[in-house]
Amino acid sequence: MKLSDPRILSALPELGVERVGGASLAERTSLGIGGTTDLLLVRRHAALPDLIALLRGAGVAYKFLGGGTNLLVKDGELPWVVLQLGNQEPGVRLEGNSARVDAAADLGRTVTFCAKNDLGGMEGLIGVPGTVGGALRMNAGAYGTQIGSYVREVKLYRSADSRIETLWENQISFEYRHTSFAPDDIMLAVKLELPSKPYREIIEGIRVCNEKRRSSQPLNQKSAGCIFKNPPGGSAGRMIDDLALKGFSVGDARVSDRHANFFVNAGHAKCADMLSLIAQVRERVHAAYGMELENEVILWTQ
Ligand code: EPU
Repeated sequence: MKLSDPRILSALPELGVERVGGASLAERTSLGIGGTTDLLLVRRHAALPDLIALLRGAGVAYKFLGGGTNLLVKDGELPWVVLQLGNQEPGVRLEGNSARVDAAADLGRTVTFCAKNDLGGMEGLIGVPGTVGGALRMNAGAYGTQIGSYVREVKLYRSADSRIETLWENQISFEYRHTSFAPDDIMLAVKLELPSKPYREIIEGIRVCNEKRRSSQPLNQKSAGCIFKNPPGGSAGRMIDDLALKGFSVGDARVSDRHANFFVNAGHAKCADMLSLIAQVRERVHAAYGMELENEVILWTQ
């Protein structure tokens, strides 16, 4: 979508919002799939309520993009604009065992920055790609760690109230790859409370997790991480693998040979290829196990 409303276009500079015309979502997502639209880079959190009010007033649909690492986007000219937060400086501010982290900060860098300051706990999250805001929204987790366990406060744009608010931990629930945030809430910053740990110990934990991840996941291929959530007590990857579906493809969308719950873009996969692969694998799992796998990947395919 190309923004053309003169009221919006003229308001962008004073809101500190940069417009990137014809931005490619294929270039901004780890799957490397997706069409083009206008991208609005929001440099000041305080500008969000006014910007969103303008878009809503003009009937312009929008979506909010974090790191793009858990996302499948449709091809072609997209029917909505995309908002993205610019990084705030500093990305992380420490105070005792508290870390105040900007939602646009890179999750991995945040984990290592905290480690250098003898704050641990998040070692398992080290190889999870994406932003802190994205990890928060999904309650990202790996190797026994979930980011939600460390959250004390979240600053967010609350869509229901059209304003920026702060929620305390007792106002948010974090479950397996699920949170109580509304789908159109926008994470802005988070305060984490992290346990003190010597740097060397944290680095050793990080090394072990990195090794496990390298040996079991296709890190050098384009993917969105795990496609399906694990069913209670089970592993979607193992179930798909047991059906001998590794390497099963639709066009260039392919079930990874390394981890069967990672579907990779092995070349120039189209969104329709990936959707068809997801549907066919889900069907095969349903036929074999009588169980409907739920997507973990977020779809912007309508
Ligand atoms: N397995 C297979 N074949 C496969 C994949 C896995 O047999 O192709 C077996 C493994 O050998 C293991 C079991 O299934 O015995 C579980 O596999 P793994 O340890 O790789 O964990 P997972 O349940 O498949 C989850 C998360 C990952 C996270 C890892 C490590 C989900 C959907 N996936 O995977 O998260 O990195 O644990 O903690 O919860 C993601 O969220 O995108 C993601 C990749």
